[in-house]
Amino acid sequence: MIFFKDGEYLQEEQMNLSINDRGYAFGDGVYEVIKVYDGMLYTANEHLERLIESAAKIKISLPYTLEQLIEITEELQQKNELSTGHIYLQVTRGVAPRAHQFPDQNMPPVVTGYTVENPRPVEQLAAGAAMKSVEDMRWLRCDIKSLNLLGNVLAKQEAVESGCQEALFVRDGIVREGSASNVFGIKEGVLYTHPANHFILNGITRRVVLRLASELSLPVVEKEFTLEEACSMAEFFFTSTNAEITPVVTIDGRTVGKGVPGMITKQLQKMFEAQIPVLVAAGQAQERDANGPAS
Ligand code: PDD
Repeated sequence: MIFFKDGEYLQEEQMNLSINDRGYAFGDGVYEVIKVYDGMLYTANEHLERLIESAAKIKISLPYTLEQLIEITEELQQKNELSTGHIYLQVTRGVAPRAHQFPDQNMPPVVTGYTVENPRPVEQLAAGAAMKSVEDMRWLRCDIKSLNLLGNVLAKQEAVESGCQEALFVRDGIVREGSASNVFGIKEGVLYTHPANHFILNGITRRVVLRLASELSLPVVEKEFTLEEACSMAEFFFTSTNAEITPVVTIDGRTVGKGVPGMITKQLQKMFEAQIPVLVAAGQAQERDANGPAS
């Protein structure tokens, strides 16, 4: 495996990371997860633009332009011959003796990256997943893709310990997002999702779904809804770079809709796969029957 660190492509044993890295000490940094399908980067521009934005929001000025970040991402894919999986990029404020305030001198940020081979979660995409609601105790800047993921980690663990695949964050009675995903509900032919504000990360997959919904002439309402309303949706799903569009069949053990992936959700999955040319070419885009029962 070839890693990236501060302009160099290195073997793992050459990766010299400091104990005084502020990412390690404080989680003082941001990251991105970029999907690769059959060797092709997917929505890399949007992810890398978000990386620059996240860094700017915590006052880290990235030492690379968008074009250079794309180059780094492509190099990592090529050097590791990554087929299907993701590229992880991380930026921390840099290395300095531990003190909460920003370091005095202009420390260069530490930029690292690596690749992970992982197949598409095809079984879960077909069968759907279970969610568990968890109190959202994260900070109030969830729009930043921060390395600080303690709230997300604890929520996911709670969900997994109850036999669920994903946690559903609820703050002030309002459903916000998943522990590592955005959520959508469908009722009476309308697609509902939380507005893109500081309570959620504006997912790149979320944005893709909103584009697909408009292609489908599916009305979209970006507004807050309660846990009770989520449970009474006809269809529910969560989205992320790796989870794509994952149907949700239960929330807190309560059946959502018919308890199988919904018709419109399956239609959106089909459209999602169809806009990834390599999946279509490789015959990996599933022929999903939008009217038929879930298989
Ligand atoms: N998580 N919300 C949160 C809190 C997330 O962590 C993520 C992604 C999303 C979905 O964003 P996107 O569609 O851009 O992947 C929403 C990544 C994948 C992770 O932490 O591994």
